[in-house]
Amino acid sequence: MPFFIMNSLFITFEGIDRAGKTTQIQLLSKFLDENKIDHIITREPGGNPVSEKIREILLNSKEEIDIYTELFLYIAGRKQHVEKTILPALKKNQWVICDRYIDSTTVYQGVFRNIQINTIERLHEAANIYLYPHITFYIDIPVNISEGRIIKSGNRNRMEMFNNIEAEKMRQMFIHLTEKNPQRITLIDGIQSIQTIHQKIITEIKKKMKL
Ligand code: TYD
Repeated sequence: MPFFIMNSLFITFEGIDRAGKTTQIQLLSKFLDENKIDHIITREPGGNPVSEKIREILLNSKEEIDIYTELFLYIAGRKQHVEKTILPALKKNQWVICDRYIDSTTVYQGVFRNIQINTIERLHEAANIYLYPHITFYIDIPVNISEGRIIKSGNRNRMEMFNNIEAEKMRQMFIHLTEKNPQRITLIDGIQSIQTIHQKIITEIKKKMKL
């Protein structure tokens, strides 16, 4: 059930690892600053003190984590994030720009961990999470580019342990979600230049705001 607060927008960025979300979020934030649009930038997993502690477990635990424990942790972190960070900001008419959200759970836990999508949806309902973004930008890059960037960075977190076949399956799920939710999710070709992608994002936001 989409939750609509007219004066502010909740915008999320999604993609397989290293798609360039962070760069685009920074450019969008600069644009919003220049246009005097009050906003916060946040991320998942994380986004507030409790959820950041959960993030630390999720990304850096040396101990093996059961896939359902992992799913519950993502949802627990999200619940706290929604209640204590995202909704309070939207209620203050601040825009919320979030690096990853619900679609990442569908893709990573649903496809990579092979947990039924229906189970993921039911757990969100059980946690009373009904907040969906007004706009989601899915930045699409081929998996070999994602893998190349992970290797180049020399730093691979606990979630980035998939092979190229698994990564391609995740990418296809993001594309499927885009096709299933055309009103909410915009697919952006992540191979274009940083500025071209930025301009497309601004155009889409203006369209949504009917600016
Ligand atoms: P992060 O270092 O923030 O990666 P990125 O910069 O690519 O966003 O790590 C977040 C990792 O957590 C990423 O690999 C995706 C994963 N993840 C899930 O598995 N489920 C989720 O619900 C979310 C929000 C993220």
